[in-house]
Amino acid sequence: MRKKWWKESVVYQIYPRSFKDSNGDGIGDLKGIVEKLDYLKYLGVDVLWISPIFKSPNDDNGYDISDYRNIMDDFGTMEDFDELLSEAHKRGIKILLDLVANHTSDEHHWFIESRKSKDNKYRDYYIWKEGKNGEEPNNWGSAFGGSAWEYDENTNMYYLHCFSKKQPDLNWENPNVRKEIHDIVRWWLDKGVDGFRMDVINAISKHPDFPDAPETEGVDYPDFGLVVMNGPKVHDYLRELNEEVLSKYNIMTVGETPLVTPEIAIKYVAEDRRELNMVFCFEHVDLDRDYINLRKKPLNLVELKRVFTKWQKGLEQGGWNSLYWNNHDQPRVVSRFGDDKEYWEKSAKMLATCLHFMQGTPYIYQGEEIGMTNVKFESINEYRDIATLNLYKNEVLTGKRSMNEIMEYTYQFGRDNARTPMQWDDTEYAGFSKVKPWIKVNPNYKKINVKSQINDENSILNYYRKLIKIRKENEIVVYGIYDLILEEDENIYAYTRTLDNKKLLIICNFNEKENIFNMPKDINYKTCKLIISNYEVFENKIDEIKLRPYEARVYELI
Ligand code: NOJ
Repeated sequence: MRKKWWKESVVYQIYPRSFKDSNGDGIGDLKGIVEKLDYLKYLGVDVLWISPIFKSPNDDNGYDISDYRNIMDDFGTMEDFDELLSEAHKRGIKILLDLVANHTSDEHHWFIESRKSKDNKYRDYYIWKEGKNGEEPNNWGSAFGGSAWEYDENTNMYYLHCFSKKQPDLNWENPNVRKEIHDIVRWWLDKGVDGFRMDVINAISKHPDFPDAPETEGVDYPDFGLVVMNGPKVHDYLRELNEEVLSKYNIMTVGETPLVTPEIAIKYVAEDRRELNMVFCFEHVDLDRDYINLRKKPLNLVELKRVFTKWQKGLEQGGWNSLYWNNHDQPRVVSRFGDDKEYWEKSAKMLATCLHFMQGTPYIYQGEEIGMTNVKFESINEYRDIATLNLYKNEVLTGKRSMNEIMEYTYQFGRDNARTPMQWDDTEYAGFSKVKPWIKVNPNYKKINVKSQINDENSILNYYRKLIKIRKENEIVVYGIYDLILEEDENIYAYTRTLDNKKLLIICNFNEKENIFNMPKDINYKTCKLIISNYEVFENKIDEIKLRPYEARVYELI
């Protein structure tokens, strides 16, 4: 296995709007990130992935870019960015930007031009189609509800927007579009950034025939992704981007790729294919979610193990995994797969242990390291996410579903669960801002905050620090081969990592019951050395370990 710095790194994701407000306008900003660099250094992370910071009208919080070479007003100036980059680099921390290139904002000057007339120079920068029998060109549904096509009176045609109607899809078929994107990427890399997370990058190549998506019962417009993801030319486009730009820099890239299996993923990340370094898969975070009926399904641990194991083994040869529980689109993991009440601290640590000992690059989402939880706002008016607000409009206001159903679904899966302000301390607004923030603070900030954890040796925060440190000091955590044990056990997730003659054993109890772990026959418990655990362990070295609620242990086998 080839050694690379990005395989040995831990990435921390910042959602800048909610990280730290430095200028008292209730919105996080770049200077706020600078203020917290020492904290991030203390935590021990190597790379910051910063969600979009480019100019944007914020229909989707920056995932709708109107100018790729300027900073969003809310977040500061280009000088602030330069300061952030240099202050991060001074501390040995790298910066990954979010490249949103499947679509732009409708306020980008390319689109403003494009919609003016059929013969405008920028017309073909976007995807325009005639309607079919007075209706949309096909049945694709947008990710935020309704059709993925918007009728434009001006030229009597429709444009494609896989996300909101303020996020028109770029036409990557057009070589000028690809060249523009290459130039943008080169421009930022020349500035010194260390790589990109690429937003829905496997959606950039649309099928030339624009076929209907398969009908889905109970859904008016089936998910565009069923036809769009992993399109016919996606690999050509990525290889071209790599050859023209990426390969000339020592950087890292991670693609956000819904609807990929390991067999598909390897085509994006195999080293000899020269496309991307890693992708984010969704299989493990889709297990407990019913997208059609908008409901939570109970998590089946055997399934979760099957999915992770498939990915671990699938990318073992020549690929690389990204490891994550959380991001700005997902609910908080401690509320989701752990217990955010009685076993809040234990389950947060257990989940971290389970993920951080796998093979791949771990991603920590802001607040995860202190066990931030989901939030339940009382009224829909307190939510800010376009996905949630559109659900309300499309489902409740049309009478399709009750308000209760939508609130319940939002409590479980709403993206604002991850977007409440970072909880720095127990003062008003959690130390995030001096004024009322753009979105409400989670009311549990008095209990859950950085200040209360930083000096507590047993805190979740210090547990994450320890996990990162162990990774830094033990190559096996990075490069060791993963093997699942106890495949069918419904309560315990246990696996080993092996590198040369070294072995680690990771044992995680995934629920609040006491569960028995039987030491496998080929492991001599007597010689096992505990390297981290979330409970105090009094070893009796009997081959049967009684695991306490959400207990996690990692042993080195010697
Ligand atoms: C994926 C991003 O993570 C999400 O936040 C965004 O809404 C869509 N892509 C559209 O850019």
